[in-house]
Amino acid sequence: MSQLNKFKRYTITSALPYANGPLHIGHLAGAYLPADIFVRYLRLMKKDVVYICGSDEHGAAITIKAKKEGTTPQAIIDKYHKQIKDSFEEFGISFDIYHRTSSAIHHDLSQEFFLNLYEKGEFIEKYSEQYYDEDFDQFLADRYITGTCPVCSYDKAYGDQCENCGTSLNPTDLIDPISTLSSKKPILKPTKHWYLPLDKYQPWLEKWIDEKEGEWKVNVFGQCRSWLKSGLQPRSMTRDLDWGIDVPLEEAKGKKLYVWMDAPIGYISATKQWAIDKGKDWQKYWKKQANTEDDACLMHFIGKDNIVFHCIIFPAILKAHGDYILPQNVPANEFLNLEGDKLSTSRNHAVWLHEYLQELPGKQDELRYVLTSILPETSDSEFTWKDYQARVNNELVAILGNYVNRVMILMHKFYEGKVESDTPTIKLTDANLDKEIGNYYDELGKNLESYRFRQALQSVMDIARLGNRYLTEQEPWKTIKSDPAAAKAALHNSLILIGHLATCLQPFLPATAIKIFGMLNVDAVTFDQEIEFANGHQLNAAALLFEKVEDEVIDIQIQKLADKKKASAVVQQPIITPAKANITFDHFVGMDIRTGTILTAEKVAKTKKLLKLTIDTGIDERTVVSGIAEHYEPEAIIGKQVSILVNLEPREIKGIMSQGMILMAENAEGKLSFVAPAIDMPNGSVIR
Ligand code: MF3
Ligand code: ZN
Repeated sequence: MSQLNKFKRYTITSALPYANGPLHIGHLAGAYLPADIFVRYLRLMKKDVVYICGSDEHGAAITIKAKKEGTTPQAIIDKYHKQIKDSFEEFGISFDIYHRTSSAIHHDLSQEFFLNLYEKGEFIEKYSEQYYDEDFDQFLADRYITGTCPVCSYDKAYGDQCENCGTSLNPTDLIDPISTLSSKKPILKPTKHWYLPLDKYQPWLEKWIDEKEGEWKVNVFGQCRSWLKSGLQPRSMTRDLDWGIDVPLEEAKGKKLYVWMDAPIGYISATKQWAIDKGKDWQKYWKKQANTEDDACLMHFIGKDNIVFHCIIFPAILKAHGDYILPQNVPANEFLNLEGDKLSTSRNHAVWLHEYLQELPGKQDELRYVLTSILPETSDSEFTWKDYQARVNNELVAILGNYVNRVMILMHKFYEGKVESDTPTIKLTDANLDKEIGNYYDELGKNLESYRFRQALQSVMDIARLGNRYLTEQEPWKTIKSDPAAAKAALHNSLILIGHLATCLQPFLPATAIKIFGMLNVDAVTFDQEIEFANGHQLNAAALLFEKVEDEVIDIQIQKLADKKKASAVVQQPIITPAKANITFDHFVGMDIRTGTILTAEKVAKTKKLLKLTIDTGIDERTVVSGIAEHYEPEAIIGKQVSILVNLEPREIKGIMSQGMILMAENAEGKLSFVAPAIDMPNGSVIR
């Protein structure tokens, strides 16, 4: 029994994509395809639903992209907003509105939200020291600062994260921070910001999230619990940036709202715009109603990297405001991988939607089908072109397309495409078929309502499988001679079955469903209606629904990905030095490697590469000559922890006795990094 009757209205959102690049299949599989299927289902169940999305046009991601392309943020968002919107349309993602956060209505609403919280005294105002670029006269967004990671010593770590070891960082954690604007060392300067005290909301959030156990997907619930377990901290809702929404306070001149404050409000402002366009009342879809039973059901479809923002921060903001409903569910998906590797925008390892549309035109439903079959619903999943080919050929062509085609061809061959009956309309005359179809509808609904979209699609394909089986059993091509009435009944039953098939396909393969309705020469129906074939009804010509994907087509795509990988490997990926021959354990323990600290460092005269170092090894202080002068300034490394091989035979280098060797990691480009313990260890600690 459907649970949908609990709510009068549905407000469904898909994560607002950043307008800083095109969409790929990972986006579609993460937050858009599942939501679109769900929304189409709701509409077929005659629910009052609004489906909201738009471009996320603020944040450092946009300004960094603009800088990279040598253009303005405005030019970037205009370009990608259009491209993204077009791709969604092409793939039939049926938003009621695809809006943008650069719009005036969004800026106004975001400021209104901020002021509402401000006037209620919900923010903590706090000064903190933040990095400032004196040449450019501006505070630096986390992403604009690079430096050495305190954990792994990677020297291109960002202010918010080290991409080498994955540690999330604060800019002030970085060793030797550099502004990416001026390439100089930024200074620390006090700046005031407005913080939402998430710690204050922790008890409330815990209770609210706990109630979702069993109802929310385990991956989502688990992530929420682990955030709560590690304890929430106040989070700044303002930033020192020059691209974004102005903080609406006199004393906050030049400051902008945090992008994760304004973006989710984008769902609401988009709904407002839609309501204006359509003459609706947006508040019914977002605000608490006088009677709780009249509240809308709010649901956010997102990828797993967005969980904390939708399950913790945004609900806290909504709660702080007080007038708004909270999400009933956040059915986040895991990630989709591609051909054995993570999808990656920067390495160009992706199937881009705009390229797919060009290279495989008219095959949107094929991609929708394959992606729905492999949605990363409970764990990461993988797209491969071979699997794409197999699913299209063995399932869409061989099962679905073939079935519809067989019935249509026979109807035209035997009856010139005309439905002729003694009754005003044809009826299903096979009780078994009737029962099985009913079961598939039930399963379909159950699976969709519990966000098992892969399984739901299988229920629909089962209708096609059932149809094929029925036709094979009935053999109307034989009975047409021996028992013409039986042949006719079998084909009429098949037509009714195809009608159900098309009805159930609508959420998944909307274009295909329309094609089938077209062939049947009937209008599309909702789930509470049934297609009627009146006596004398004329079918349209049979047309193939899907064509086989040939090897050449797939080979081109596989080759293309391999080429891109090669191209990016040359640029970025270190060539791994081949492994050395095995050594004995004794050889290994023969090496005395310890932690030490650099006490002094100076250039060795008349050399380019050498530094003379004094090291506190815990055992003694000793001199080591090291070939790192091209990588480190002597002043910058004093006090650094290192690893040193202390029992290396001393040797004279440029007239200096070097006693030991500092261990360094070296990549393919010859870049060096000290190797140090991840936490502070006393000098002389043994490394083994
Ligand atoms: N732009 C974000 C991302 O791509 C998602 C924003 S979702 C919203 O990760 F809730 F903030 F709108
Ligand atoms: Zn690191």
